[in-house]
Amino acid sequence: MKLATEVDIELNNGKKIPALGLGTVASDDPKDVKDQVITAVKAGYRHIDTAWFYGTEKYIGEALKELFDEGVVKRDDLFITTKVWPSFYHSPEKSLDQSLSDLGLDYVDLFLQHWPVCLHGDENGLPKAPKDANGNLEYDDDPVTGTKFIDVYHTLEDILDNTSKVKAIGVSNYSIPKLRELLPKVKKHIPVVNQIEYHPHLPQQDLVDFCEKNKIVVSCYSPVGSGGAPVLKIPLVKELAKKYDVTENEIANAYNILNNRVTLPRSSNLERIKTIIRLPPLTKEELDELYQVGVNDPHRYICDPWGYGLGFKWWTGDTLSKEFD
Ligand SMILES: NC(=O)c1ccc[n+]([C@@H]2O[C@H](COP(=O)([O-])OP(=O)(O)OC[C@H]3O[C@@H](n4cnc5c(N)ncnc54)[C@H](OP(=O)(O)O)[C@@H]3O)[C@@H](O)[C@H]2O)c1
Repeated sequence: MKLATEVDIELNNGKKIPALGLGTVASDDPKDVKDQVITAVKAGYRHIDTAWFYGTEKYIGEALKELFDEGVVKRDDLFITTKVWPSFYHSPEKSLDQSLSDLGLDYVDLFLQHWPVCLHGDENGLPKAPKDANGNLEYDDDPVTGTKFIDVYHTLEDILDNTSKVKAIGVSNYSIPKLRELLPKVKKHIPVVNQIEYHPHLPQQDLVDFCEKNKIVVSCYSPVGSGGAPVLKIPLVKELAKKYDVTENEIANAYNILNNRVTLPRSSNLERIKTIIRLPPLTKEELDELYQVGVNDPHRYICDPWGYGLGFKWWTGDTLSKEFD
């Protein structure tokens, strides 16, 4: 059977991104991420997805140093993504410098704007989720009507053009309305990727089609629906795992990869990281059937408060977004 670790997807800048990337949000102790990265790279993963926000970059840096020192891989063999968080929106290069220093790298392959939102962080991007006296998030720009998020993307373009610290730039958590606002204003570099929640329970075909039309690769976070892995409980996922004699996780990843999307699983279980790398050859009919699961029963599992109002469908409690329908 083909391996997911061997599939690359072409980006709009002519470079390639490995379709299987290891997610690095810490499940418990951030230090555990070091072994997760070492295990993944030794198993053949060549793509690590991280962010300043996750607080795990130092441990990823330790893992990379060990892997490079032992000659397991060279820097050029890996594709590493990091992101600038909304509370650090005013200083993307400072955020990037901190990420590079923690990772022990001179450059990242991809630098993403984590959310199209501007939160009121200090010069070091802290606190990460600033709140006012009433417990509401403190924004520096209206999350629904503000346009500062476009300036942040312009700064990413400047970093790409004027430094050697990033090879490509992109976005994350951009809905269709936000992409519609950004794309006509891009100076020179269309985002290569939009990283969003995507799995068989979340049928965002309109967003995927919009990205495809604009040559933006969709990168899927929470491929099994995050904590509790609800996607793995879908009867069709179980049935297909049995049919192809693979794990349910591999069906969830194949659903993305065979549709030309990047998939970003995370696990604290080293055995699981190692063993979920096969790519079962699901048929077009099976991929379509998996899509229908979400059409009939849609669920979004990551409904962070800073995503409220961005125009995503099935965002629990989001009434602001209705105006975008
Ligand atoms: N751009 C963004 O805003 C954003 C947002 C969220 C995530 N991300 C990225 O995407 C990555 C993955 O996201 P995620 O953590 O939400 O996704 P996920 O991979 O869908 O879910 C991981 C969770 O599923 C559990 N799991 C996986 N397989 C299982 C199995 N066979 N049985 C039981 N439990 C299982 C894992 O537990 P175990 O640890 O026990 O395996 C873990 O708790 C993150 O690490 C991050 O890199 C990006």
